[in-house]
Amino acid sequence: MIVSEFIPKPYKSLLDSGSVAYSSPSNIALVKYWGKKAHQIPANPSISFTLNNCKTLTTIKFKKKTTKGFSFEVYLEGVIQKEFKPKIKQFFQRIEVYLPFLSAYHFTIETSNTFPHSSGIASSASGMSALALCLVQLEQSLNQETTKTFFNRKASFLARLGSGSACRSIEGPLIVWGTHANIIGSSDLVGIKYPYEVHPNFSNFCDTILLVDKGEKQVSSTVGHDLMHGHPFSEQRFAQAHTNMDALIEVLKTGDLTAFINIVEREALTLHSMMMSSDPYFILMKPNTLEIINKIWTFRIKTGLCICFTLDAGANVHVLFPENEANEIREFIKTSLVMHCQNDQFIEDILGEGAQSIKI
Ligand code: PMV
Repeated sequence: MIVSEFIPKPYKSLLDSGSVAYSSPSNIALVKYWGKKAHQIPANPSISFTLNNCKTLTTIKFKKKTTKGFSFEVYLEGVIQKEFKPKIKQFFQRIEVYLPFLSAYHFTIETSNTFPHSSGIASSASGMSALALCLVQLEQSLNQETTKTFFNRKASFLARLGSGSACRSIEGPLIVWGTHANIIGSSDLVGIKYPYEVHPNFSNFCDTILLVDKGEKQVSSTVGHDLMHGHPFSEQRFAQAHTNMDALIEVLKTGDLTAFINIVEREALTLHSMMMSSDPYFILMKPNTLEIINKIWTFRIKTGLCICFTLDAGANVHVLFPENEANEIREFIKTSLVMHCQNDQFIEDILGEGAQSIKI
């Protein structure tokens, strides 16, 4: 499947060398993407909050070469990472048709995260989007005139080919990915900014990430998505995601936080119930994940505050709450939830506007 919109005109000339840099954030899905078709096409639409503080910073130094094929090395926090190479090589293979300069350069990719590596935070979303943005920035310097809109679309399109959810990290604060009948402009190929009215209840929404288990992922997302093929409940799940997107459109407009909580928590638990009922099956939550969820529920009943949780494909808990309740809820998190985190580690984040170029 080749998408001609993203194939560039021949470059007028190639620079001999240079460098580009971008910072790109992580994102947290409200309606989850779980299950994909060929070419990284999602099985259902999803919508996410773009985060602000959890980011990957990537610099790419490039130097013209005469040898054939791809040539690059990757450093994380200054340490060479051989194990990252296969994923990046596969990414380059997928996107070369859209960035034909890839085999003309040797790349030194230097990357770092503002959050602990292997913390279970979606570093593939921030990492792949930062990489895609650097490459589109490099392309722009090869005399390609583009608008900001096209630049972001191409970066999102390429990021998706690295890691699906990465296409939702280019912009913010609310991004939709996957075609949905009632969301104008929605696409399976790129993430788009949520195009409708959003109630002020959702401005500066907060996400405190509780690092319950920082161990290596028990199941890679590639394997996880694959398990949705032939899953006995997959069709119902995909249909449910469409329905939940519809419900969320209304909630985002009216600011109904009770209905928001209901959708978001149900989505999180559905994601995990899909993993628990696939073959092979997985339980990615840990006892402390459940401790935290139960405490959130009890606290919510007791105080009436609009605190809720969501989960990624792991044991960590994202605690979501509106800005005007932040003081009380942050206090509760510190006194009652942080004790369930590995080494008491947590990250306070808020909604963000997406990636930024870094001047070097
Ligand atoms: O982008 P991937 O292939 O790592 O998939 C991520 C899927 C979830 O994080 C579990 C859900 C989502 O929509 O972000």
